[in-house]
Amino acid sequence: MFDSLRVPVIAAPMAGGPSTPELVAATARAGAFGFLAGGYLSAAALADQISTARALSDDAFGVNLFVPGIRSTVDLSPYTARLRAEGGRYGVEPGDPRWDDDGYAAKLDLLVEARVPVVSFTFGVPLESDVDRLHEAGSIIVVTVTSPDEAREAAAVGADALCVQGFEAGGHRGVFTDDVTDPFGGELHGVLAGLRLIAAATDLPLIAAGGLVHGADVAAVL
Ligand SMILES: Cc1cc2nc3c(=O)[nH]c(=O)nc-3n(C[C@H](O)[C@H](O)[C@H](O)COP(=O)(O)O)c2cc1C
Repeated sequence: MFDSLRVPVIAAPMAGGPSTPELVAATARAGAFGFLAGGYLSAAALADQISTARALSDDAFGVNLFVPGIRSTVDLSPYTARLRAEGGRYGVEPGDPRWDDDGYAAKLDLLVEARVPVVSFTFGVPLESDVDRLHEAGSIIVVTVTSPDEAREAAAVGADALCVQGFEAGGHRGVFTDDVTDPFGGELHGVLAGLRLIAAATDLPLIAAGGLVHGADVAAVL
């Protein structure tokens, strides 16, 4: 468990470029636990990042994946219409909305093979069979949750720890359901209330996330 890793602070993964192997290594040097962001990367690009992270540092790190198929009620057409209007000013057209699974299966296979110490999931729960495979490979499994119901779902598939994200995390909150009629995602808890409610719903170790900016914020969640 994270006790054995002895890290009080975990650097949040940020997909799309900000979380690099160099940042993971620097995070470890600073005494915290770093994550590579597997979201939006191909399996091959993630494999490269894992190799680079291992070449840069002997310290443990984690990899975060986005679970595909977030339950969504969102109709994207109003958003595309706004983009089209904005794009017109620059002479560009939005492409057609398309869905893909972000190479999830290939990245899971890679992580089973790569045996990274921690694998975390955002925007849903992994299948129990995938949690089993990763456990057999020696990985600790973390799932990001924002409510007691999501926490129970994550516990049911065998998560070892939960990342509890409060509304302070804003638009990047890892809810399981993206509901346009309820943009704040059903239950809306700040990180302190979320920690209390989720601690009452499961016995799993909890990692607090969302809006931890000042020392006082950190003291409060501790
Ligand atoms: C640009 C950006 C990319 C992000 N990518 C991920 C990601 O890949 N996986 C994830 O679990 N969270 C991701 N997040 C959410 C952060 O983990 C989240 O912000 C975290 O809860 C820390 O909260 P804070 O930013 O309020 O401190 C991202 C956030 C930002 C701003």
